[in-house]
Amino acid sequence: MAIQPVIIPVKSYDSNANFISNRSIPAAQTIYFDSCFRYTVFMKEFIDTLLKEHTLSRENFIRLIDARTPELSAYLFEKADAVRKKHFGNSVYIRGLIEFTNYCVNDCYYCGIRRSNREASRYRLSKEAVLSCCEEGYALGFRTFVLQGGEDRRYSDETLSDLIASIKSRFPDCAVTLSVGERSYDSYQSLFEAGADRYLLRHETADEAHYKKLHPASLSLENRKQCLWNLKEIGYQTGCGFMVGSPCQRTESIAEDLLFIHELQPEMVGIGPFIPHHDTPFKDFPKGSVELTLYLIGILRLMLPKCLIPATTALGTLDPEGREKGILAGANVCMPNLSPISVRKKYLLYDNKICTGDESAEHLKSLSKRMAKIGFQIIKSRGDHPDKI
Ligand code: 5AD
Repeated sequence: MAIQPVIIPVKSYDSNANFISNRSIPAAQTIYFDSCFRYTVFMKEFIDTLLKEHTLSRENFIRLIDARTPELSAYLFEKADAVRKKHFGNSVYIRGLIEFTNYCVNDCYYCGIRRSNREASRYRLSKEAVLSCCEEGYALGFRTFVLQGGEDRRYSDETLSDLIASIKSRFPDCAVTLSVGERSYDSYQSLFEAGADRYLLRHETADEAHYKKLHPASLSLENRKQCLWNLKEIGYQTGCGFMVGSPCQRTESIAEDLLFIHELQPEMVGIGPFIPHHDTPFKDFPKGSVELTLYLIGILRLMLPKCLIPATTALGTLDPEGREKGILAGANVCMPNLSPISVRKKYLLYDNKICTGDESAEHLKSLSKRMAKIGFQIIKSRGDHPDKI
């Protein structure tokens, strides 16, 4: 004998929880429909809480990440867009990225310029070469220069301070951002006194066990975090961040990242998908997800409404429209490459890193057009954190 489905009346609602109609559907379907619907409404409440309170519990961060759906992402991006508009309008800030040395004493398993990579062709830029990058960048409209490099002990505090002071005296209306890794408190202090304004130091992962999977024993999460606290205390606009989809990363690790970011309250946060590099121990690991990176950018915007969040090069490398998607998800910074063309391919942190197309400084006009197409405007100013002006 065939079992007749039990038909029961239900009320149906649209995605904004507005009542649509009464209809009759089989009971089994009702349960499924009802649980999915309730789950989405539940998750939307988490997003609303994030909007108001700027953080969630560890468990709820995990739920919010794991339960994501296109509908939930759309809801998140809508909120993130409104928050970003409130503080920044439709402005996108730009930074000229100068990769001045690819020597590095560290041996991070994910990074293409790790010490053990004998295939990397090493270079250092002279002070004159860096200044001429700034010159070129200034003419294009850049008012922030990011000096990024591996941890290269050849650059002592004196050498770096001299470089920073020279840039600041030649271009007094510009900000200098450093991204040169872990150094002592005194070193950070002297570079700040030389004129550096901001410092980027991704924490990479705030999950202790995960940190050990990505780094050799010579590096510790504790020291990494301490460096970030030191930078904040000294007065830098400080940036942390992490890779999305790095080997062995779990949702629990990402929840730790978000909790640490909430604690640190950085002025900048950079996140991008992990991309394998062919000469590293992680060469066979899968790349990170663009979709999850965008979702996390949305979450970060709600957590830190006034934060400077870049649509990163890694995002642009995995998706030709990655920059635009990053901005639409809540980012508000682009960092075109201002390094001399002759060295760009040598700063290969991961395979296929883009560096000569619209992400390069000389193609700023084309980047501007792309931003205009999605309703954003590139701003040629220092672009400080609103609370640090
Ligand atoms: N994939 C993605 N990002 C990477 N980085 C280093 N190696 C990779 C990789 N393989 C990121 C790190 C570092 C920043 C400069 O580049 O997060 O902090």
